[in-house]
Amino acid sequence: MTNCAVILAGGQGKRMKAEMPKPMFRVLGEPMLEWVISACEKAGVDDICIVKGYKSEIIDEYIGNRYKTALQSQRLGTGHAVMQSVPFLEESQSENTLVLCGDAPFIDSETIKRSLDEHIKSGNAVTVISACLDNPCGYGRIVQSENGISAIVEQKDASEEQLKIREINSGCYWFDTKQLILALSKLECNNAANEYYLTDTISILISQGQRAWAYMTENSEVVLGANDRKGLLALNDIARKNVIEKHLENGVEFTCTDGVVIERDVEIGAGTHILQGTVLSKGTKIGKNCVIGPNCIFENAVIGDNTKLNYVQGYDCRIDDNVKIGPFVHIRPNSHIKDGVKIGDFVEIKNSVIGENTAVAHLTYVGDSDVGARVNFGCGCVTVNYDGINKNRTTIGDNCFIGCNTNLIAPVKLGKGAYTAAGTTVVKDVPDYALALDRGEFRLKDGYSLKKLGEKATREN
Ligand code: UD1
Ligand code: CA
Repeated sequence: MTNCAVILAGGQGKRMKAEMPKPMFRVLGEPMLEWVISACEKAGVDDICIVKGYKSEIIDEYIGNRYKTALQSQRLGTGHAVMQSVPFLEESQSENTLVLCGDAPFIDSETIKRSLDEHIKSGNAVTVISACLDNPCGYGRIVQSENGISAIVEQKDASEEQLKIREINSGCYWFDTKQLILALSKLECNNAANEYYLTDTISILISQGQRAWAYMTENSEVVLGANDRKGLLALNDIARKNVIEKHLENGVEFTCTDGVVIERDVEIGAGTHILQGTVLSKGTKIGKNCVIGPNCIFENAVIGDNTKLNYVQGYDCRIDDNVKIGPFVHIRPNSHIKDGVKIGDFVEIKNSVIGENTAVAHLTYVGDSDVGARVNFGCGCVTVNYDGINKNRTTIGDNCFIGCNTNLIAPVKLGKGAYTAAGTTVVKDVPDYALALDRGEFRLKDGYSLKKLGEKATREN
């Protein structure tokens, strides 16, 4: 049994007031379209065609060549959108086709799988995923009869009686592919919106003697979409809460979730405590018993166990076990902070390795550097990595002591156990256990300011 999916993403979403196809608006950092794609893939349906229309180039750019696409050059309705995928359906030759809306991100793989089982077992030509809503306003209503459903009626076209129906169409369906292609060829657009409604395929299939059935899902969130910015924020709120609930079940601690936004693929170990204002994005993995926050931002960061990070931002980086960082620290891409490191306020690390138990306590920039274990940086040190043309590396051996306000002019290498005196600008490699000291002669001039300013200096004292 082979299955494919058609995702409708041609619509504009005028009320969003932005020039972007609606399915490209983001929920927890990912386009709604991506949520729908990943539900399909997780359900084992990976032969996917995306129907694009409004601002199709934005979809093209996002999708690249991951999936096939079909262009709907005019927006003539959901039925018309699926018609554009017929060449894909013919080529795919899948027995069943899943049709979904790209702007309803919470469809899940379980619902897709269970409705497919039902679809196959019952020999339906179409199985509509439906839900029961307290407020069904705006959705197509499912009209039930003894032998399955008899029609889906859009809000605009519904009678008083039909408007009372609370079972609604999620916009997600399993079709027998051959029957879908046949029904699409018979679609017309004589309705309130003058559109080709995909939902009209139901009555067409029934009139051909086929079975149409609804699979009602318990999880009514699967139908939710956003029509405007307020609706999009509501989707984000729901997704955010669901993700946090999953972590609570896994043993993660939250005292207060204000400002906490965790994207859905983030992993967090049990016993870790997430504090207010923490934003954890794609690719981030955090170990056990850490304290993260307040006010941390991590994207694609891999963090070990027992690490404490306070007011830290980190991108494409690795931070190992028993590390303590913050406040006000920026860990930039390609950095690896090893076990037991301590990094204090106003420090930036870029494209560098910081060895075990090294301390970078204050006001320091370490860029393009390989720093050994147990190194101590004084306050205000700079690896001078950029000469205006090239970026150069600095190497610092184990047990070095970098005095306050040291400039290390890269490329430069400090051997193990080397010292630099405070204020030194290091322009040459320093051998193991040596001291680099670079200071002009220290002079005192007695009464200097009195002589320079005369009476003025005495008066102001
Ligand atoms: C549709 C259903 C309705 C269902 C609801 C669920 C029809 C006629 N109605 O209504 O029964 O309850 O979804 O959300 O199908 N699209 C295109 N091209 C078009 C029109 C739409 O690609 O010409 C895409 C949109 O981008 C969107 C999806 O199809 O992703 C649904 O379109 P939308 O206009 O939102 O349909 P609804 O009126 O909500
Ligand atoms: Ca809609």
